Amino acid sequence: MTEQVLRGRVLSFRRRPEGPSDLAACDWFEDGAVHIRDGMIVATGDFAAIAPAGIPVTDHRPHLITAGFIDAHIHFPQGEIVASWGAQLMDWLNTYTFPAETRFADPVHAARIATTFFDLLLMNGTTTASAFCSVHPESVDAYFSEAGARGLRMLGGKVLMDRNAPEALRDTPQSAYDDSAALIGRWHGRGRASYVISPRFAITSTPEQMEAAQALIAAHPDLHVQTHLSENDAEIAFACALYPQAQGYLDIYDRYGMLGPKSLLGHSIHLSDAERDRIAETGAHAVHCPTSNLFLGSGLFDETALHARGATCGIATDIGAGMSWSMLRTAGAAYAVAQLQNHKLDPLTGFWWITRGNADVLGMTDRIGTLEAGTEADLVVLDSRATPELALRMTAAQDLKDELFALMILGDDRAVVETYANGRAVKPASPPAGQAGR
Ligand code: GUN
Ligand code: ZN
Repeated sequence: MTEQVLRGRVLSFRRRPEGPSDLAACDWFEDGAVHIRDGMIVATGDFAAIAPAGIPVTDHRPHLITAGFIDAHIHFPQGEIVASWGAQLMDWLNTYTFPAETRFADPVHAARIATTFFDLLLMNGTTTASAFCSVHPESVDAYFSEAGARGLRMLGGKVLMDRNAPEALRDTPQSAYDDSAALIGRWHGRGRASYVISPRFAITSTPEQMEAAQALIAAHPDLHVQTHLSENDAEIAFACALYPQAQGYLDIYDRYGMLGPKSLLGHSIHLSDAERDRIAETGAHAVHCPTSNLFLGSGLFDETALHARGATCGIATDIGAGMSWSMLRTAGAAYAVAQLQNHKLDPLTGFWWITRGNADVLGMTDRIGTLEAGTEADLVVLDSRATPELALRMTAAQDLKDELFALMILGDDRAVVETYANGRAVKPASPPAGQAGR
């Protein structure tokens, strides 16, 4: 049995805050402690009240301790193409994305990138992500092998794609089904791994492949499903032309039984009111990818309209179209996007979103996303004065809200002091630069 106490300024969420001052949504301990036994949280509270005598204490004061960040939509094979210039979605896929993903047929390349990928997530305080791997089963093996070796709770799956992509990236309806089924058997529920059925998007799947995906979903109703929806005008027109019988883009997925509480719909920007209603009605989750949507010029995600209907939305980096691996930066970009729509994303809600909010979207609040007793000890330790600009801002910060907002707008990996997964310190000792060399 291993047992430890982490001491610091401890913040966790009980529910979504209802505004900038809704501290009742949080557990907040100025001199707090998280008591961890065998990778699980035993208790969280005031240090004086809960820290048992005789157990080693790691003192992180004056830093903040929160639940580890969760990234609800990321592409494992796209780290190399972050910051590729000059294209919107369809050109960006053809020019940069597909060539990069082709290289993941090589298990050596996939394993090398997996090392860097998880280094970057952990440097940024991200302890759980839902990733699209490439079409190749080898990429999924590399992804889950490396995640498992580090003891991380990760979700992911091979993309299904049998048209409108280079030959080297195309599967078939049958191989998509067979490979996914084999990967589910190999990885789902192994350690902390969860397999996600991942039809890339309607454009790269024939109706026959959508039927294969539907059969997979029916055979594995406990699994998540992830795809892309209504990101870009040209994409929407192409998808609707390929499925003329559908009422709209969302309806394509609806017809193949892909909408439900386990469904993650990346982007979901250009939606009709009827589509928003349908997302809420089915319990599916739109996933906001703010830095990606700005980078590709895709549009502005309207979280307020979905929330008003009772839909719970995720938030994500969408690396490699995303501009940052940091969920802090991502929350900051969501703030700026909301500003353009005359809404205010308050800092408590921003921190709730990248922790408990995304855990809610994944249906995993019983395991991750909070510091509640009985959950897995995935945590991040944040230094609100980590950089000169943060330190300067903090000289004028009045309260926790100001501090969290400073982290959301100015913070990134440099603010991450330590990352814990299952109670183990897992932040890479040195930056991963160059590890992904050819
Ligand atoms: N739509 C289909 N595939 C992708 C992808 O890899 N990235 C983004 N941003 N959108 C997509
Ligand atoms: Zn994506």
